[in-house]
Amino acid sequence: MLEQYKQELDALNNNSHLRSIKDFSQKSGKYITFEGKELINLSSNNYLGFADNEEITQEFLDFAGAKYPLGSASARLLTGTLPIYKELELLLCKLFNKESALIFNSGYHANVGITSSIAGKNDVIFSDKLNHASIIDGMKLAGGKFFRYQHNDMESLERLLIRERKNFDNAIIVTESVFSMDGDIADLKKIIELKKKYNCLLYVDEAHAFGVFGEKGLGICETLVILPEIDILVGTFGKSIGSMGAFAVSNKVLIDYLTNKARSFIFSTALPPISIAFSKWIIENKLPFTLEKRKKMLTLGNKLGSQSHIIPVIIGGNSETEQMCKRLFDAGYFTLPIRPPTVPEGTSRIRISLTTDIEGKDLDKLCTITGLTNKTTQD
Ligand SMILES: Cc1ncc(COP(=O)(O)O)c(C=O)c1O
Repeated sequence: MLEQYKQELDALNNNSHLRSIKDFSQKSGKYITFEGKELINLSSNNYLGFADNEEITQEFLDFAGAKYPLGSASARLLTGTLPIYKELELLLCKLFNKESALIFNSGYHANVGITSSIAGKNDVIFSDKLNHASIIDGMKLAGGKFFRYQHNDMESLERLLIRERKNFDNAIIVTESVFSMDGDIADLKKIIELKKKYNCLLYVDEAHAFGVFGEKGLGICETLVILPEIDILVGTFGKSIGSMGAFAVSNKVLIDYLTNKARSFIFSTALPPISIAFSKWIIENKLPFTLEKRKKMLTLGNKLGSQSHIIPVIIGGNSETEQMCKRLFDAGYFTLPIRPPTVPEGTSRIRISLTTDIEGKDLDKLCTITGLTNKTTQD
């Protein structure tokens, strides 16, 4: 019986599609040690360096002591809610100026839970074609119908709205703000126009923008001053914040609805209170002092031709992408090949993600090898 699985693995391997878990001996600041070599880490979502900074960890532990248990032992709706969860939810409400907030165990849980519960059988979701797998998986589980518009293409979205909106009761438009694999930014102002014109709810996933964009670090919607127009906003704690988990902020009705209907929220043990406390502590005590570093990181991203700190180097084929990673490894960089199904067929790439520790001059060799615009040494 295992033969069939083995054949599928062989097929993946033959097509340079096979994924494997890598062993790293050390991670510290901008460096990662892999296969005995210290490399500049260009594959991390630890954008602000909070996840593995020993001083910050120690400072937090000095503050937290033994106040926060290491396990919650229960789902939130059972006995898994200590005051720290509510305190973090309240903090998020205040920051985003929204009525209610709900913490999920991860961004994956949040998106799957929301997209699978928010559209009933007479409802519809319009989703950007490059939205994250968690959004797609949730829509597939949902009772309602969904349509995917061409990536960040407002004409494609409007064509679908004209054709389909009238056939359904509720409609939800869902998009990432900073796209995880392309680093570009959704045309949110136009989407808001369309949401109003066609009477839809707007759901924005700020996973890669929360902590990075905006004076307060709240994301692209803060930068564009459009927070009041967003019906559901998701952010994650596992990337910039260096912790674990995610949240949705919205109005009271929708958060109450998700609390009752989002199965990934209801049927899973709550995150450890210590993780919740760490997220809250970082947001209150560290994030407000990162603005200058974040601006510098985004300027570097712009110089490399991206709208954000995520820079795709699109190679095309799987094996060519793997070869490029090998060349970059030899030159002192850790990068990962991103292949289908994570990205569309024929667009395999290296996804470079900057962190605030990385400087322009660190990337000179990389620019020469990949052909990225080499304007980085000018800073
Ligand atoms: C846009 C987007 N949303 C959600 C997630 C999932 O977040 P988490 O890693 O917290 O599950 C990711 C993860 O990479 C992502 O890129």
